[in-house]
Amino acid sequence: MAEKQGTVQRYRLLWICACLLLIPAAIDAKIVTKCELVKQLTANGISRTYQGHWVCLAKAVSKMDSAKVSQLPNLSYNYGIFQINSKEWCRVGYKGGKCNVRCEDLATDNITKAIQCSKTIQQQNGFKEWQMWEKNCKGKELPDISNCAVVG
Ligand SMILES: *[C@@H]1O[C@H](CO)[C@@H](O)[C@H](O)[C@H]1NC(C)=O
Ligand SMILES: *[C@@H]1O[C@H](CO)[C@@H](O)[C@H](O)[C@H]1NC(C)=O
Repeated sequence: MAEKQGTVQRYRLLWICACLLLIPAAIDAKIVTKCELVKQLTANGISRTYQGHWVCLAKAVSKMDSAKVSQLPNLSYNYGIFQINSKEWCRVGYKGGKCNVRCEDLATDNITKAIQCSKTIQQQNGFKEWQMWEKNCKGKELPDISNCAVVG
């Protein structure tokens, strides 16, 4: 009985350790506020008309986390607030791809490059490049950005 108790204790300790290991990943998240995103979109020449779509997209793909990096089943990676794919648009470790940018620079708290690259993607392929946009934003009610200052 005492033996069994000890085992339970040990498992509990293992669980605590495992959970502690997961905390740094959560701390790395950089959540951009809706109005901060709107401000940056404006600064990068995205018209007010489309800003609701961009905010909707960011919420859908990254929950507004500018530092989000995710691995896809096909072993490519998606980077940043707009989850830009590493296959075509950027290069891991050095500047490249159709956006001529390091993928890592698309997942920092400065979202300028992520916006510029996403703009390139949208101009070439449209919002339909993002399946999550089709699913969550196309023809749907978009986030209300009317309370965000028009001028940055
Ligand atoms: C992996 O999947 C993503 C999303 O479907 C796609 O954009 C990308 O081109 C794919 N990468 C490879 C290497 O096939
Ligand atoms: C963000 O990055 C852009 C270029 O990548 C730079 O021009 C801008 O000054 C940076 N903004 C801040 C707040 O560092």
